Amino acid sequence: MIEARGLTKRYGDTLAVDHLSFSVEPGRITGFLGPNGAGKTTTMRLILGLDRPTDGMVTVNGKAFAQLARPMREVGALLDAKAVHGGRSAYNHLLCLAQANNLPRRRVDEVLELVGLSAVAKKRSKGFSLGMGQRLGIAGALLGDPAILMFDEPVNGLDPEGILWIRNLMKALAAEGRTVFVSSHLMSEMENTAEHLIVIGRGRLIADCTVPEFIAANSSQTVRVRTPEQDALAKVVAAAGGSVHDEGAASAPTGSGTLRSRMPCGCTSSHPARHRWKRPSWN
Ligand SMILES: Nc1ncnc2c1ncn2[C@@H]1O[C@H](COP(=O)(O)OP(=O)(O)O)[C@@H](O)[C@H]1O
Ligand SMILES: [Mg+2]
Repeated sequence: MIEARGLTKRYGDTLAVDHLSFSVEPGRITGFLGPNGAGKTTTMRLILGLDRPTDGMVTVNGKAFAQLARPMREVGALLDAKAVHGGRSAYNHLLCLAQANNLPRRRVDEVLELVGLSAVAKKRSKGFSLGMGQRLGIAGALLGDPAILMFDEPVNGLDPEGILWIRNLMKALAAEGRTVFVSSHLMSEMENTAEHLIVIGRGRLIADCTVPEFIAANSSQTVRVRTPEQDALAKVVAAAGGSVHDEGAASAPTGSGTLRSRMPCGCTSSHPARHRWKRPSWN
């Protein structure tokens, strides 16, 4: 479990993280959604003790990261897949991490197998594709078999197969009861992966809710109707709780007009793909 309370980080004039309070629970994928520059990476760096908060606090399993006796066994993270010495093989990179963290050598083979890199384990990582680099980063995160995993924009730039692989891996990790915290600036990615969402904009918390709740609150369903009896239809729609926008008769046959009806939508999770996505206000 990750818990942030009043977490704040200021870089000079920039307030990157602004009094964020949230909890990331085990057994599900929690999406961390916000546009570029919202403060997602900074928040993850604060969780991992890579930066010091200006104010507030964040704990991993009840302790500040620096106080964890065996950090890689408690939390694994992929923040920057390129943070690897390119001249080192995938195997040696992971072996280095394992030895520095008192983890058994056999764990290196296990995670290489898990991420599908066994065949290229002895190759230098500088020749790796983006997808292979992401897999190596994920192997590093899994090395200590931690109950908490964090991935910062893991699918950026990946091909469809790589995206699917990461999505399925995260789902499997959450199904094992682990805490999975994954950031993205794409709502569509979160809709496909996460169950719970923490949404931020300009460092501030915008929403902390389930994905269906967030979609219901930020989307609407519209239907375009062509009718010769605009007034009558508008009355019926209004009586049913919908709203009507008159698009005029320009493209309609003589004597009719086009209406766009926004229906009140009681549904939430059953068919979110049919909803029109209305960009939320990040501010
Ligand atoms: N080391 C740093 N020094 C100064 N400003 C920074 C630093 N790291 C991040 N920022 C600023 O903090 C804000 C949040 O950045 P970041 O956490 O990277 O956002 P995100 O990951 O959501 O795209 C941005 O305005 C960014 O320019
Ligand atoms: Mg980022």
